Amino acid sequence: MQRARITGTGMFVPDRVVTNDDLSGLMDTSDEWIQQRTGIRERRWVEPGQTPTDLASAAAEQALADAGLEAGDIDCILLATLSPEHHFPGTSFFVQARLGCSETPCIDLHAQCTGFLYALSLADSLVTSGKYRRVLVIGAEVHSTGLDLSTRGRDVSVIFGDGAGAVVVEANQDTDDPGGILAVRLGAEGEHAMRLCVDAPASGRSPRIDQAALDEGLHYPHMEGRFVFKHAVRRMPQVLEQTLSAGGVKLQEVDLFLFHQANLRINEFVANQLEIPVEKTFNNIMRYGNCSAGSIPMLLAESSRNGRLARGDLVSLTGFGSGFSWGGAVIRW
Ligand code: ACO
Repeated sequence: MQRARITGTGMFVPDRVVTNDDLSGLMDTSDEWIQQRTGIRERRWVEPGQTPTDLASAAAEQALADAGLEAGDIDCILLATLSPEHHFPGTSFFVQARLGCSETPCIDLHAQCTGFLYALSLADSLVTSGKYRRVLVIGAEVHSTGLDLSTRGRDVSVIFGDGAGAVVVEANQDTDDPGGILAVRLGAEGEHAMRLCVDAPASGRSPRIDQAALDEGLHYPHMEGRFVFKHAVRRMPQVLEQTLSAGGVKLQEVDLFLFHQANLRINEFVANQLEIPVEKTFNNIMRYGNCSAGSIPMLLAESSRNGRLARGDLVSLTGFGSGFSWGGAVIRW
């Protein structure tokens, strides 16, 4: 069967750097607490008026250039985000207009921190089934405009950052080259959906948001951090091993392990559990925080630029997030 392969990567983060010390000026927190618990030193926030479409389009343009393509060459746009530009239409439609590829179909996916892996899985199916030849997959988040910057929200607000990553997925036409997506595995446990969520605005409420909801802070993310942590460190090794087994790859053969960037301690825990050497991992959470659907494609873009990922390498991707949702992919780069 013809494989789908990633032929281009791109990323974009806003210029504005927000350090842990900047946050301790807004809420009762400290650089020491944030670094010890999460590994994060700084993150990026958008400037007023900068939107998910701005970030996503810049990342997409870079991925297209990297693949040697133009926007008009793309057959479908998949965009994963938990911080959409508007409730509707989906953010992918705004990105399509910005890229100038009118009439290209647009699909938004809502699977939070696992959103990119869900979108990659769909892109893989669309390409290997022959429905589309070239799919643009984007993960983009603007978290900073939706955070409770008072001490009430400190457990969540210190971990999130703004950023976007993108890849181009194409049919591998080269019969001599076995490169491509070898396996993707996804999972979910919806019974825990409310453990990490934003309550309002919501169509289950009428009106969808009101002053009482705003006063209660229901429009801010709510997270049962320890509960999420416990599930992340159980599900991530599980799905990583399932994915490698589905792809016929041994753990020792993998050249690079990229984990979703929610918390460096989660990733260290998972790597320890599976005895993955630290030199086979790459994290950027220290500089960008948790960019949810943007994190994994940002890691791919950075590691392919900085020489950590070369053609022919085996790379394993693993994520966990709200939903709860989780996923893994193994790729011959
Ligand atoms: N600064 C200082 N103190 C803080 C902060 C802060 N930013 N946040 C919480 N605290 C305090 C708490 O109030 C609490 O104080 P107390 O003991 O006096 O009550 C103490 O620190 C411990 O709080 P916990 O919430 O239990 O802290 P924990 O060690 O669990 O760390 C964290 C919190 C970092 C959020 C962790 O739980 C975590 O990473 N969870 C998983 C996150 C994740 O994987 N999310 C999924 C992806 S996100 C997505 O899908 C949208």
